[in-house]
Amino acid sequence: MGVFLGGGVAQASRDQWSSSFGFLAAAVGSAVGLGNMWRFSYLTAEKGGAAFVALYLLFTVLIGLPILLAELTLGRGARKSPIGALGHYGGGRWKALGGLFVVTGLLILSYYSVIAGWTVRYAAEALVVGMPADPGAHFAAISEGDHAFLFHVLFMGFTMAVVAGGVSRGIERVSVIAMPLLFLLVCGIALYAATLDNASAGYSYYLNADLQNALSMDVVVSAAGQAFFSLSLGMGAIMTFASYLPRDGNLPRESLTIASADFGVAFLAGLMVFPIIFALGLQAAVGESTLGALFVALPRAFAEMGAAGRVVGFCFFIALVVGALTSALSLFEVLVSAVVDELQWARPKAVAVMGVVVTVLGSGAAWNIAVLDVMDQVANNFFLLLGGLMLAIFTGWVMKDPVAEAAGGAGEGGLGLWRFLLRWVAPPFLLFVLWHSVPSTAANVWALISG
Ligand code: PHE
Repeated sequence: MGVFLGGGVAQASRDQWSSSFGFLAAAVGSAVGLGNMWRFSYLTAEKGGAAFVALYLLFTVLIGLPILLAELTLGRGARKSPIGALGHYGGGRWKALGGLFVVTGLLILSYYSVIAGWTVRYAAEALVVGMPADPGAHFAAISEGDHAFLFHVLFMGFTMAVVAGGVSRGIERVSVIAMPLLFLLVCGIALYAATLDNASAGYSYYLNADLQNALSMDVVVSAAGQAFFSLSLGMGAIMTFASYLPRDGNLPRESLTIASADFGVAFLAGLMVFPIIFALGLQAAVGESTLGALFVALPRAFAEMGAAGRVVGFCFFIALVVGALTSALSLFEVLVSAVVDELQWARPKAVAVMGVVVTVLGSGAAWNIAVLDVMDQVANNFFLLLGGLMLAIFTGWVMKDPVAEAAGGAGEGGLGLWRFLLRWVAPPFLLFVLWHSVPSTAANVWALISG
């Protein structure tokens, strides 16, 4: 039986968010994840502190926000998953961009789930056995190999179970509980960190800009990639979620809420991580930061804090698990909705087949952390930036009257600036960044392949 929705498009009972808070919780849940806590803090340490943070904030506002609003607009307007939505507004050729999103989603979710698996393991260990005695050796032992694969499978199992429940009864139900919980945990830990002696050394490391650093292209590329990854942009995740929106929401306001919450949690993550590490004199771990830093330096700090550390450590890793799960839901929904809409598969079949594909693809990352690292770089410094570039061009130049579409439920205030940024700022900026990131990313891929 068909249900008739605004715009006169007949849709066979497409699922819909049951409340605007439900949508916001899910969209913020998508944005806030390992990107804000794990990736943000390790990159901030690796790329020199506040200068990186400032660039990342700048890119979030100037490039991220306009593309976020573009994704919301396209998804809500077309009420289809990205392949269909792009086809709806741009004709058959643009469907290929939706295809690129699916490929990107497969790539990201397959290694994201491996890292999420580490967090599940750390949370469980914090509860049952406490922090490891030798965190470095522990991380080396669990981050690659059978164990990493097992926890990756476990995490994909959770993700599949929730997404199988559908949008309003699966993803929304989990997000409305998970997101408030995550905010509470992160705020609580940041407050606790502020009480530690010598917390100020951590703050000054985190908040003092070394501007020299911000001028390096490597930092610019990383900050741009991070802005996209953290906001879940450039691969249709937000677009897919927006396709389940009713017509009356205020999209510009929602884009602001999502971006502020996302930046807020990343900023708070820095306020918890750096004071804790510096208070315990572990700054050397920050200096040599790699993608494992959070899983080595922090457990060491938690172990030194005794009983309090065990509680804080547990809360910290639970926050990571919760953030990772709600982000994975959105990554997975892109894949599932694509086959449900394009191939007319039933949702359970889509979940099962895509779940197996992701699990198998992720096995490379689970068995070799160097593969994981390169997958992350290729996804962020290439695919998301390319997806974002194409989205900006599409919405700014190809789509007819995006302003009217975005204004529905809101009014046109500020949308002239939005279109200007999409047309004249985002494309040249993203081309410039890609121009610089492609050779180094390709070199890293080559180095991995040639051993
Ligand atoms: N934004 C998520 C995070 O910060 C990751 C993500 C990227 C989710 C792309 C969906 C799409 O962890």
